[in-house]
Amino acid sequence: MCGIVAYVGERTAYPILIKGLQRLEYRGYDSAGIALANGGIRVYKCKGRVKDLQALARDKEVGGSIGMGHTRWATHGEPSDANAHPHASERGIFHVVHNGIIENHAHLRRELVRRGYTFRSETDTEVLANLIEDTYLEQNVSAELAVRLALTRVVGAYGLVILCDREPGKLLAARKGSPLVIGVGEGEYFLASDAMPIIEYTDRVIYMNDEEVAVITPSALDLKDLYNDVKTPEIKTIKLSIANADKGEFPHFMLKEIHEQPFSVTDTFRGRVAADGDKIVLGGILDVMPRLVEARRVIIVACGTSWHAALVGEYLLEEYARVPVEVEYASEFRYRDPIVGEGDLVIAISQSGETADTLAAIRRVKGTGATCLGICNVAGSSISRETEAGVYTRAGIEIGVASTKAFTSQITVLAMMAFLLGSKRRVLDAAEYRALVSELTRVPEMIATVLEQEGRIKEIAELYKESPNALFLGRGILFPVALEGALKLKEISYIHAEGYPAAEMKHGPIALVDERMPVFAIATSDKLYDKTAGNIQEVKARGGKVIAIATRGNEEIRGLADQVIEIPPCHVALSPLLAVVPLQLFAYHVAVARGCNVDQPRNLAKSVTVE
Ligand code: G6P
Repeated sequence: MCGIVAYVGERTAYPILIKGLQRLEYRGYDSAGIALANGGIRVYKCKGRVKDLQALARDKEVGGSIGMGHTRWATHGEPSDANAHPHASERGIFHVVHNGIIENHAHLRRELVRRGYTFRSETDTEVLANLIEDTYLEQNVSAELAVRLALTRVVGAYGLVILCDREPGKLLAARKGSPLVIGVGEGEYFLASDAMPIIEYTDRVIYMNDEEVAVITPSALDLKDLYNDVKTPEIKTIKLSIANADKGEFPHFMLKEIHEQPFSVTDTFRGRVAADGDKIVLGGILDVMPRLVEARRVIIVACGTSWHAALVGEYLLEEYARVPVEVEYASEFRYRDPIVGEGDLVIAISQSGETADTLAAIRRVKGTGATCLGICNVAGSSISRETEAGVYTRAGIEIGVASTKAFTSQITVLAMMAFLLGSKRRVLDAAEYRALVSELTRVPEMIATVLEQEGRIKEIAELYKESPNALFLGRGILFPVALEGALKLKEISYIHAEGYPAAEMKHGPIALVDERMPVFAIATSDKLYDKTAGNIQEVKARGGKVIAIATRGNEEIRGLADQVIEIPPCHVALSPLLAVVPLQLFAYHVAVARGCNVDQPRNLAKSVTVE
């Protein structure tokens, strides 16, 4: 949510900042801006996308080798030129870009107004800029100390980069709650909300910790906490390929990422599953394995698509490891007084590893005696660093705001964990364990066969692209897939969609069914097939249109449903990995047919770093 990029070194900052903002645009895209220090600070900012900012800056002076940029996802104040970042302080001594929310901004604003400050925007960020300037002038201290003192008065979350007109040649940065990564080059430094804008220049990074303040010049980096204790920066080497950050031959990142799934799922289990299929090794949780095997209960916390993966995980862990599982919305869990302690295993699932509520949920259980694991995609992210142990999903960079390949990789990790624990807890015998592991290794080729039906799915999307509503039904382990299918459609095509357990349909949604209502029924050939087939009849009897996701070889379903999309026969445990793919493709093609911005849907952001 909001993207920050900054540079200090010998090169011209402007092209680095623009490219960085383009890479971060998935985090927010309602306005963009930059500040360049070159004998004074120049600011260009506007409502709209990075390309609008480029148009604004064309023919303007964009020299200077120190600068910062911002792409915004509005929280305080509508998207507008005035509310776009960077924000200047009253006298222009400080310029600030910010990701996060300052919760006590109204109180601070009133105080600053009393002290004679005026405000040009509705943002909480301008409050910060003025608070820092006021501290700087009033207390006659350095910019660094002014930043540290001001931030001790701030309640809320921030990732900040700051330029001080009176102390040229340096960037100041601070973090609490919202991520900031420093890229370390030769005589230059980069700063960004995530590593994406940095990886083409350097693979050496420092993840800033909460309440740290950095002062950065081309030749030095000083890191302290808010209270002046010097911190030693820990430089890590990251392995991220820039190739993943480009669309390649695909028109949208989302489509590219859907098609990557045979490879991303393979990457998730590669090296973790023995070639002969007789065992799974998850290095990231080896140290805590005895506690996992003994766990009396599992609680999974997550948001959005990751929460749907968690629901699949509930089925997998209960069925194959026979451990009770509760799945919680992180945003609810964090504000309850949950009964958690010794013997509990808390798993946080998050693609970005930065979702504010999920991060807060794991902080909630620290010190309770529970074991806390992370399942994250982004290496080095806050959740992966704040959990005791975990498993990376290794799906590669996901840029489309609507999550696709991260979902299937999360389920792949959960399946591996369930099968591994099932074997260690002696729920699965050697033959069952081997069969499940070997089926998992076949999933990528099975996903590839589902992808081959894209043309047919596109035709179905054309038929239903004008529908105002859609219903998605599933049972058992495929109910979360119905939820995910509905979420994908809602997110990118703005069609109202609901996911329901198939039998629950009769308790409400059936009232909505008419000839304009497409109903997706996930009706694979498992033990609940007959029940779902009954639900399909109920929809048809009321004039609804049914699109069935069915197992190849089921001829009967052709007589029931209006359209059928086939998935290959596979073990029910892994069927979500196949059944979700047609729903992703359907949502994608409906959104394209409706002229929607697939990769940057309105109002959404990929990484929700504010609550
Ligand atoms: C946002 C994204 C979703 C994502 C959710 C949770 O809403 O748009 O795609 O599922 O956040 O994000 P996380 O990074 O924690 O998985």
